[in-house]
Amino acid sequence: MKALILSGGKGTRLRPLTYSGAKQLVPVANKPVLWYGIEEMVAAGITDIGIIISPETGAEVQAKTGNGEYFGANITYILQDQPAGLAHAVQIARPFLGDSPFVMYLGDNLIQLGDLRYFLQQFSQQQPDALILLRPVANPTAFGVAEVDDTGNVLQLIEKPKIPPSNLALVGVYFFSHIIFDAIANIQPSTRGELEITDAIQYLINQQKHVVAHKLQGWWLDTGKKDDLLEANRLVLDTYMTASILGEVDAQSQIIGRVQIGAKSQVINCTIRGPVIIGNNCHLENCFIGPYSSIANNATLVDTDLEHSVILEGAKIAGIHQRIIDSVIGQRAQLTLAPRRPKALRFLIGDDCQIELT
Ligand code: TTP
Repeated sequence: MKALILSGGKGTRLRPLTYSGAKQLVPVANKPVLWYGIEEMVAAGITDIGIIISPETGAEVQAKTGNGEYFGANITYILQDQPAGLAHAVQIARPFLGDSPFVMYLGDNLIQLGDLRYFLQQFSQQQPDALILLRPVANPTAFGVAEVDDTGNVLQLIEKPKIPPSNLALVGVYFFSHIIFDAIANIQPSTRGELEITDAIQYLINQQKHVVAHKLQGWWLDTGKKDDLLEANRLVLDTYMTASILGEVDAQSQIIGRVQIGAKSQVINCTIRGPVIIGNNCHLENCFIGPYSSIANNATLVDTDLEHSVILEGAKIAGIHQRIIDSVIGQRAQLTLAPRRPKALRFLIGDDCQIELT
């Protein structure tokens, strides 16, 4: 069994963060989202992992993630020259995948830890041509949606249907036998110009191949948009965080609940209410840090109230007299109070940023 993790794509929905980096490397609880997928594979016993990368962000993904040794895996990087669709990514990975069955996993998705092993067992026992995972969603028109019969056989798949046949969305985890390559060879690009994996699976169904579906009970999140990223951060902190304080906390500070503070970080006169994770080498002074916040390495926060937010590496926030909530602040971004008159707001804002003032 091999794994194919997709870490290419355009990442338009997570701009501006994706102008300067891969969305799969955006941290959730201070760990790149891609790494959760890799760890999930290894936990399920799959160590032969191919990762699809793009020309724009591939080098960064590769440099940060390495050859797999850190995870106990063997990682092969596969360059997709353009984001021509999920099925295209599978197609170009053929030399790596060979005739092995494999699990395909979207590198910006998160599923509850431990779930993969169970579905892998189902796949090995049932030996279908494809096994897909489904999850009821409130807005099926935004997803690939499946129609399934009472026994779990998939009848139909439609990408972003105007009139959804069910509320069962395809989760970004798929199990395939090598038959999928024949299917991909027989489909055409969709109207958005991509080779769609839903079309390839639909082809299998039309050819009377065995395609089964299972419902995912645990949570599943696509971190490709800001609010979903914040929700992933909340869930991961809520579910897995344990307290550990390596940095320095002065006597005036109050640490409440599950809080992690990394090495060489300084906390001066702050109240931190967990679950909160703070990376290494951060400086926090006169701050309130509320639940569900992740602060990456080398960040500086002074005279700041923060809650339910993700602060990326090297960002600086100082003197903001209103509480910052539901926010994602990019690497090295600076949010400070103007030291000079006239009292005014001064910005240097990159493309596609979102700023809400009251
Ligand atoms: P999407 O999030 O559906 O696509 P995208 O990255 O182009 O995002 P956006 O809609 O914001 O522009 O892709 C799901 C995952 O698959 C994601 O991790 C990127 C990856 N992917 C590839 O590796 N190759 C591809 O051709 C595509 C379309 C996606």
